[in-house]
Amino acid sequence: MDISLVGSINIDLVYRVPYVVKNGETLHSASHSVHFGGKGANQAVTASQLGANVHFIGKVGADDFGGQAINNLKEKGVYTDSVQKEGATGQAIIQVTDAGDNAIVLFPGANFLVTPEQIEQEADIISSSNALLLQLEVPLEAVEKAVEIAAEHGQMVILNPAPSQKLPDSLLKNVTFLTPNETELAQLTGIETTSEENIRAACSLLLDKGVGTVVVTLGSKGSFYMNREESGWVQALSVNTIDTTGAGDAFNGALAVGLCSGDSLRSAIEFATKVAAYVVTQMGAQPLIPHSYLE
Ligand code: RIB
Ligand code: NA
Repeated sequence: MDISLVGSINIDLVYRVPYVVKNGETLHSASHSVHFGGKGANQAVTASQLGANVHFIGKVGADDFGGQAINNLKEKGVYTDSVQKEGATGQAIIQVTDAGDNAIVLFPGANFLVTPEQIEQEADIISSSNALLLQLEVPLEAVEKAVEIAAEHGQMVILNPAPSQKLPDSLLKNVTFLTPNETELAQLTGIETTSEENIRAACSLLLDKGVGTVVVTLGSKGSFYMNREESGWVQALSVNTIDTTGAGDAFNGALAVGLCSGDSLRSAIEFATKVAAYVVTQMGAQPLIPHSYLE
């Protein structure tokens, strides 16, 4: 199974804090760690661990962090021939609270240097893969170009619209699976996602724009899916929360693998839920998932 992925690669500087620092305050951090991150890389590493051949299209900086980030992807089995080096590697400064929640300052760096021209150079990879997986940490023009190429070839397109951003209808109409969280769903549709009724209304609006299926992730409330044939909820698993960073990414990486394997929508979501739950119990966004956990 081949998945092409257009996305971001970051170095995550993680600080453990009692709560998120307030304006003008100096807050002491009990521990500091450096992890590999970036929504694209996190999703790629998850999908690769679960058996997919992931072809990464993106950019790191022409610096030490860039080399380390590429090596990390390679070690985890991700194909990096289409990862270019330019500028400075993206960085995320992440405060993780005692409750396991996070707040992130993102410096996109090289990720923002991904261009539609770079994507066009990789058209063969995109058109020969089983699916295209993307997020929104690279410029929208690059995302649009990749989706356009995939759509021309009838490819499955899985778009995780994170971080939150409005999207043009011309893009949405070519998305097979759209995976917003509650906030992203509200931003995409202008509908407050406070009740199931509103969530359904927001999903309907996206389906009317041509999205194939919407899968909404709602943290401890689980996830809600809807397309023209079916809709339903998949419950979250209750776990010991250490660090939620990367949970959404693991969900998307695993969902892509499930869908490409031909699983039903519901079982692909159940599988993704299980994989994401493991990531929440670990520090960092790219923990190795033990094989025994997946059996
Ligand atoms: O989704 C989590 C990721 O968002 C982190 O790894 C960080 O790099 C930010 O991009
Ligand atoms: Na984590």
